[in-house]
Amino acid sequence: PRTAPILVASNRGPVSYTLGEDGSLTARRGGGGLVSGLSAIGPDANAVWVCAALGEDDREAARRAGDSHLNPGDTGGQQVRMLDIAPDVFAAAYNGIANSVLWFIHHLLYQTPVEPVFDAEFADQWAAYEAYNAAFADALAEEAVDEAVVLVQDYHLALVPAMLRERRPDLRIGHFSHTPWAPPDYYRLLPDDVAAGVLRGILGGDRAAFLTERWAGAFADCCAAVLGAEIVRDGDGDSDGDGNGEGAATAVRFEGRETRLGVHGLGADADFLRQRSRQEDVDERLTSLRAQIGPDRKSIVRVDRTELSKNIVRGLLAYRRLLETHPEWRERVVHVAFAYPSRQDLAVYRDYTERVRRIAEEINAEYGTEGWTPVALHVKDDFARSLAAYRLADVALVNPIRDGMNLVAKEVPVVSERGCALVLSREAGAHAELGDDALVVNPYDVEATARALDEALRMSDGERADRTKRLAAAATALPPQAWFLAQLRAL
Ligand code: G6P
Repeated sequence: PRTAPILVASNRGPVSYTLGEDGSLTARRGGGGLVSGLSAIGPDANAVWVCAALGEDDREAARRAGDSHLNPGDTGGQQVRMLDIAPDVFAAAYNGIANSVLWFIHHLLYQTPVEPVFDAEFADQWAAYEAYNAAFADALAEEAVDEAVVLVQDYHLALVPAMLRERRPDLRIGHFSHTPWAPPDYYRLLPDDVAAGVLRGILGGDRAAFLTERWAGAFADCCAAVLGAEIVRDGDGDSDGDGNGEGAATAVRFEGRETRLGVHGLGADADFLRQRSRQEDVDERLTSLRAQIGPDRKSIVRVDRTELSKNIVRGLLAYRRLLETHPEWRERVVHVAFAYPSRQDLAVYRDYTERVRRIAEEINAEYGTEGWTPVALHVKDDFARSLAAYRLADVALVNPIRDGMNLVAKEVPVVSERGCALVLSREAGAHAELGDDALVVNPYDVEATARALDEALRMSDGERADRTKRLAAAATALPPQAWFLAQLRAL
């Protein structure tokens, strides 16, 4: 049909569906930074969003979209095309390659020497990943008007830019990574053809963009190390300040083409958050959270997908250490931990969820008293409750091993009512913008994290309020809509 001047492609779309017993489809917004950022495109942007059906109910929705392929069920006004990719191909591409290999590489999650193992099963999964990427390239090629702009999102779709250029050389194609990018020595754990294939795929576009300079630089370093590509750098000699006289990478030249590099640090959506966090359902949850924490107690809040890279276990261990080394905090603080289900098809995620639960129980058994439960762990996804916790938190704990950005770190200061001290991992992309006013920790260092929690709890009201104000300003510098438009303009 070729109707779309702007296209967005991502594995997870703006909504996923649940099929009711009466045959009706209910749409639900998915979690994660990618969807939070892209949802700001809004209904009027003239864009078609191509995504994958993630489960059986999504497939049913896709089938009901009919001949136009567009708008299965109620998509909140957005133009959506959901791809009904064969379940085994989807599972191998999404669970196998995207979430068990590429996600692990970029977040440095492999526990060598046991993992990774690249065997025959991996080879089959890689073939499925290629087929799945080709399905996206086909759909995009079909929907795009002449010279349309296409924004391809994340590690699921690394091969799409090159595949799409082959099909439609007239398009302007950008790729955006919502994850970190691995440094070359680690990236080269991947089989050589896969390591090269991912880079070639992204370099097939006109532009490759990232959340921070650090991830863009690592991508360029991988292109040089794996492909022997030429890196074009800023002319000013030493703009990255590392003293070696090289500026930040601005483009990659490879096989006669140039792919520009971009950095767009996705920020929090202040207008949306302030308005949403004052609604009635949030007020209700605020009341029940307050009752759960108890009067005159402080709260340390965390909100994550139950995700290996989020480092929830070390966060709990640091809290346990705090109670051990600072008995004065016993009965005076509650760790409110929201660990929402994620990627439960993968055994390592199920095991991790179990460990989180077990350690929380251990801490409660060890330190809890009749009137005080030290850890309040909530595992059922509830956005309104997350916002209520943001409003009342005294301390926010954001300690990922590695994270593309981490929007929780940016959302808390915007929503906080009384000011909230932020304990932040130096390995989160958000650290580049929030580092000055956060208490910064090495995420592996449980001892230092415990000390930072103590310092955060002891911070004076005035200092907390001042820091929160500055954090909120930095966190909202590039709200989602501006982030999206900046990428369109750059293309
Ligand atoms: C991260 C990724 C996104 C992904 C999200 C949720 O933010 O960068 O691409 O959508 O996690 O993960 P899921 O596998 O549930 O889509």
